[in-house]
Amino acid sequence: MKPILAAENVNAGYGDVIIIHDVSVEVASGEIAAIVGPNGSGKSTLIKSILGFAKLFRGSILYQNKDITGIASHRAVNLGIGYVPQTDNVFPNLTIIENLDMGAYNKKGKDSIKTGKGDILQMFPELAARKNALAENLSGGERQMLAIARAMMAKPKVLLLDEPLASLSPKPSAVIESKLEQIRDAGIAILIVEQNVKKALELSNRGYVLVNGALAMEGESASLLADDSFKERFLGLEQGH
Ligand SMILES: Nc1ncnc2c1ncn2[C@@H]1O[C@H](COP(=O)(O)OP(=O)(O)O)[C@@H](O)[C@H]1O
Ligand SMILES: [Mg+2]
Repeated sequence: MKPILAAENVNAGYGDVIIIHDVSVEVASGEIAAIVGPNGSGKSTLIKSILGFAKLFRGSILYQNKDITGIASHRAVNLGIGYVPQTDNVFPNLTIIENLDMGAYNKKGKDSIKTGKGDILQMFPELAARKNALAENLSGGERQMLAIARAMMAKPKVLLLDEPLASLSPKPSAVIESKLEQIRDAGIAILIVEQNVKKALELSNRGYVLVNGALAMEGESASLLADDSFKERFLGLEQGH
């Protein structure tokens, strides 16, 4: 499948420090790609570099066959690249509805906001049921759902999600996983970063294992999960949860 978003031969980091070394990843519409690896391996830095939140020293970012290397973060969102950061991804003292309206800030016109919101609330009935609740009063799972719903308000073609399942217990995690499958099946490309190697590969079509800022292994998720050397090297690694 042709990728909608690709990062090619990326070196990235902060200040003068290179954290990511020559990494290439890609994701196609209707597919979930997972970047997995231990804490501190550079997963967040890699997706931040796609969006201009981390420094890109070398390499290119291609989106819909266009070179968007070095694009400003807000322009990337306007082009259809949605991003849900690992932390602080909702406004705690705004209600669910207010958070969703903030997610649509880059789409002009009240009508488009209204239509968008109706669709999103239909996709997330759990949020619709509590639409006037403050985000700070939501459970971890509901909060993560709101963060994803908020990113969906900008009508993205690709969603970058940084550890959406971390710190969730099995039940809310399963709910989020099924929402992601629903979003994927709607034709949106999903690039997910996850510390839980097994869970992420069970959810995704393609997997990339990042260790110390470099790709250690990559391939179809099912093949990785069935590979003996992969199992030996990476399935014991995950911490917690
Ligand atoms: N804003 C930052 N400035 C400098 N170094 C950072 C910054 N954010 C992360 N790092 C460093 O980059 C490395 C990779 O971090 P990160 O991308 O957050 O890994 P992961 O998401 O895989 O846990 C770590 O050594 C971390 O200390
Ligand atoms: Mg991270």
